[in-house]
Amino acid sequence: MADKFVINGGHALTGSVDVTGAKNAAVAILPAAILARGVCVIENLPRIADVLIIRDILMELGARTEYDDNGTLTVDTTHLDSSHATSELCKRLRASYYFIGALLARFGEAETALPGGCAIGERPIDQHIKGWEAMGAKVSVEYGKIRAEAPNGLKGCDIYMDLVSVGATINIMLAAVHAQGVTTIVNAAKEPHVVDVANFLLCMGAKIKGAGTDIIRITGVPRLHGCNYAVIPDQIETGTLMIAAAATRGDVTLHNVIPRHLDALTAKLLEMGVIVEEGADYLRVRTEGRPHAVRIKTMPYPGFPTDLQQPATVLLSTAEGASMITESIFEQRFKHIHEIRRMGADITIEDKVAVVHGVPRLTGTSVRATDLRAGAALIVAGLMADGTTEIHNIKYIDRGYDHIEDKLNSLGADISRVKEEADEREFY
Ligand code: UD1
Repeated sequence: MADKFVINGGHALTGSVDVTGAKNAAVAILPAAILARGVCVIENLPRIADVLIIRDILMELGARTEYDDNGTLTVDTTHLDSSHATSELCKRLRASYYFIGALLARFGEAETALPGGCAIGERPIDQHIKGWEAMGAKVSVEYGKIRAEAPNGLKGCDIYMDLVSVGATINIMLAAVHAQGVTTIVNAAKEPHVVDVANFLLCMGAKIKGAGTDIIRITGVPRLHGCNYAVIPDQIETGTLMIAAAATRGDVTLHNVIPRHLDALTAKLLEMGVIVEEGADYLRVRTEGRPHAVRIKTMPYPGFPTDLQQPATVLLSTAEGASMITESIFEQRFKHIHEIRRMGADITIEDKVAVVHGVPRLTGTSVRATDLRAGAALIVAGLMADGTTEIHNIKYIDRGYDHIEDKLNSLGADISRVKEEADEREFY
């Protein structure tokens, strides 16, 4: 039976909490373990649905895995013998596309079901395909499957990305680790999880230079080996909790974070009048009054992350004045706005721009998560609203946030997970 969140809002979040490992790094690092042909011990994984799905896909391919509930997965890919990840599981998440890059590198061929994931726009994978083809692979997309073949191996070359894509950068990096010669990705994504995947590959013996800049060079090596690796803290979970602290006019310290990864959000919070204090591995966020209105435009890293646009919109819904939010990465990332309008927000949308006229308060009602980060935004809305908010469809939130309700309750929130009645599910 599906669950919903019931939030009694209006409690200022206070106290401290640890942030968990990064979802977007984890979902790339686990498929990358295929390249080890040995044992990898991966720590600090978030305990989320997407990680469990990827583990199941690895097992279907012939890997052995052991999972402990503290977020450590041991993956033995020594006997992994299939290059076909075509089960229904792949359709349940976007990141299943990383199996193509990893399997193509290991076996010289790969076939996977087309990836699923949040419906936040068209989300093509032409840049991934362009990269593999440039390295000599033959790629086809037919009958809901992607097939890539390079029977004589891949050859390193220069690949100019038409746009900055996290997924394509990582996927080309995965494919290139065993390619002959040097592969250069120009206009590469610089997101923290791109660097984390590169570090994992380096730990397995790959030769990669430039991850974190917009030119990445990968020199192919014949073999990689297993390793122990800990995933970086989740930039987006950190940002969501920072926003929740400011939205509830609270005082929260987040531990086990990399403050640098949040520079774009921190700058905007400071502009709003929120106090942000940074240490080596912690961030303290506190505020009392309503935030000031600001302008935000989502951009590839180090710009303002699109994944934090939705929670930030909610925070600004009670700012003093009118804010302008431009979503420049995904076309359909304003679905949460329809829901928070039902809670009293005053927001108009014109193409890629949302104009948020701050209101003094939101009020609780029943709302529906339409995708992962929209769900996170609705949690922030429920925490700051007067009265009770019910969030339906929280399977999206469980895909990407590790026991978020426990973290929030430890900070003084009143949020509970409740089984949905069948008629509620139909309505929402
Ligand atoms: C990743 C993240 C997601 C985040 C996004 C942007 C994962 C699993 N997901 O998604 O949380 O919101 O980065 O930071 O890491 N595009 C193309 N062709 C392509 C690839 C992308 O046109 O081949 C477009 C997309 O439609 C989008 C933009 O490029 O408009 C950026 O997409 P990309 O960075 O690839 O996002 P994802 O890797 O899907």
